[in-house]
Amino acid sequence: HLEENGPHQECKDVCISSLPKEKSQLSLYDGYWIPTWSMPGVLAFQKYFQARETDILLVTPPKAGTTWFKAILFALVNRMRYLDLQEHPLLTNISHALVPLLDVDIYNKKKVPDLNSFASPRLFATHLPFDLLPTSVKGSSCKIVYVCRNPKDNFVSLWHFMNRVYSTTNSLEEDFDKFCRGVSLYGPYWDHVLSYWKPIIEKQAQKILFLKYEEMKEQPTTHLKRIAEFLECPFSPEEDAKGTINDILQLCSFDNLSNLDVNKSGKWRFPEHNNTLFRQGIDHASFFRKGNSGDWVNYFTPQMTERLDHIIEEKFHGTGLKF
Ligand code: A3P
Repeated sequence: HLEENGPHQECKDVCISSLPKEKSQLSLYDGYWIPTWSMPGVLAFQKYFQARETDILLVTPPKAGTTWFKAILFALVNRMRYLDLQEHPLLTNISHALVPLLDVDIYNKKKVPDLNSFASPRLFATHLPFDLLPTSVKGSSCKIVYVCRNPKDNFVSLWHFMNRVYSTTNSLEEDFDKFCRGVSLYGPYWDHVLSYWKPIIEKQAQKILFLKYEEMKEQPTTHLKRIAEFLECPFSPEEDAKGTINDILQLCSFDNLSNLDVNKSGKWRFPEHNNTLFRQGIDHASFFRKGNSGDWVNYFTPQMTERLDHIIEEKFHGTGLKF
């Protein structure tokens, strides 16, 4: 394994540089295309993170609704702490600041915060596929909430985001071809999704709640209740009567979050991050675009639809998963 070859830092540098690359930006690590700049954080996360049974981990492929579900989980788990919704932390912080990505935000920094001081239940996120999670997570009974999205919408959202944030000028066709070949952030997309679906259908002991962005859009109340039950903090009859479910959904809705000052004009910035982009800052507004399902129809040609439908059919055939 990577770190067995020598001292930690030296080995990371050597081994990361020897991984197959896509334009030096993505590195193929154990079958997945990981941003090269993020690899040190991924390796440190795998090596040092100690999961607790009470931990909650939100996992998403990028652009599957991370910002939204971070907000939902934060509001849900902390609902007793923030009874006054007018003073809620989500009104003044983007959800990424409240629920950090372990590999990207925590283990990519020079100084890792003391995670033992985080209040229980600790709420973290990652974009990593199941195969790449630290062993301490895979073997533990911590809870994983996994959210994926219709691959067509996920691709369109990712393409917009990359062009806006990374100032890339890749054509839709070019990036679509790569996406179909599995070359996308944390892709292949289907392998990512199946990595969390398989432990469920194989009835492995890992506690995973599998959700789709579209389901949450269509039946938010039902799915918020499911999440609450999975996280062992179900809504009480009193909360039902008070409308707590609606309050959380309203607080985390696209219209509400995307219109807050912090999300319209704030920047997601880490002065000490190893990645220039994070040091300069990413506009919070780039995490909010349309917030709908089905926008892909405005971008796909019949040929693109046919090609991706074929891949979806081939990859998910017999798994019970449909998109
Ligand atoms: P679109 O680009 O399709 O609009 P991520 O948070 O994983 O980066 O995903 C971003 C996608 O989620 C974007 O999709 C964004 O608009 C959408 N999104 C952000 N906040 C949302 C919310 N509160 N409700 C629904 N969708 C949201």
